[in-house]
Amino acid sequence: MSSKGRKILLLPGDGIGPEVVREVKKILEWFNKNKSLDFSFDEELIGGASIDVNKIPITDEVFYKSLQSDAVILGACGGPKWDNLEFSKKPERALLKLRKELKLFANLRPAICFKQLVDSSTLKPEIVSGLDIMIVRELTGGIYFGEPRGIEPIENNQRRGINTHSYTTSEIQRIARVAFDLAKKRKNVVTSCEKSNVMEAGVLWREEVQLIKDKEFKKVELNHMLADNCAMQLLRNPKQFDVILADNLFGDMLSDEAAMLTGSLGLLPSASLGARDKNGKIRSLYEPVHGSAPDIAGKNIANPIATILSLSMALRYSLDLEKEADLLDAAVQKVLDDGLRTKDIISKGNKEVTTTDMGDAIISKLK
Ligand code: IPM
Ligand code: MG
Repeated sequence: MSSKGRKILLLPGDGIGPEVVREVKKILEWFNKNKSLDFSFDEELIGGASIDVNKIPITDEVFYKSLQSDAVILGACGGPKWDNLEFSKKPERALLKLRKELKLFANLRPAICFKQLVDSSTLKPEIVSGLDIMIVRELTGGIYFGEPRGIEPIENNQRRGINTHSYTTSEIQRIARVAFDLAKKRKNVVTSCEKSNVMEAGVLWREEVQLIKDKEFKKVELNHMLADNCAMQLLRNPKQFDVILADNLFGDMLSDEAAMLTGSLGLLPSASLGARDKNGKIRSLYEPVHGSAPDIAGKNIANPIATILSLSMALRYSLDLEKEADLLDAAVQKVLDDGLRTKDIISKGNKEVTTTDMGDAIISKLK
């Protein structure tokens, strides 16, 4: 990729989304001005914000723009204002459509406990200090998308809600490869989670992951764990994990749990990646793991770090800008070293700052 003209699409969305994405935009502008980079960025509506204007959570125009971007950075989708809409019209559908139609099957959710924030976790410092887990969540299959689905009337004036959990061999294999590849660059251990004690799809998951390990990743250690046990082990002894591999639903739940080990949901970035195409390009979407947090929206108190670290993942995985990613990660560390904290991670002896102050402070450390 040439160093010029990287196209970034910003989709701030709902709740605190616009506030945290604004800080990312400031950083992109800083890179353009001070590192002679040539990011071009566009900003579009998504989720509830799009419903309010266009009556649908994502327009075709925005969808095609995201197809043509080098990276998409999304804030959050959803909020109480749109809770009563019919399911297919909810803000969250936009996110699911992007994931599914851009074929972003691999969701990477690193959970790292920064040394400065050991005391922000609800767990004891010795349990979480030095924690560095990568959750690899399958993102385009399983119960989120399985058919049949719906709510149907049945006898005696009752209704039945139906969702289908299904996975095919190739869906399991391609996400397993992502987990094993990542493990090779880390501590070389993958823990694969399912419920093979009660679900056939779990049995298949276990068998296919094992097959890929035996055939292609002989040197990586693979452990199988029931997903409920994994949830428990994450609280008991989270440092036993390196890479956790899970399906769409278990990955959703385990990643929220892992997030809290690090102190705050406000710290966790994520990358959603597709397969590499013929030209070596990967479709990608970057977003903080936290949601739209409507209760604190508009107050300038949200933590922008998760979104800023999502930008750093975009620099690393999609934009070929490893050095800039390192620079940004280091700037976040320096600001935390200085004791600046947003409300969600404030502790005694530190200074509480706003969303915008946090963004400005991180930019000042890029220099
Ligand atoms: C996440 C979120 C989404 C999900 C919602 C907003 C649809 O919880 O990214 O973890 O369930 O995948
Ligand atoms: Mg979630």
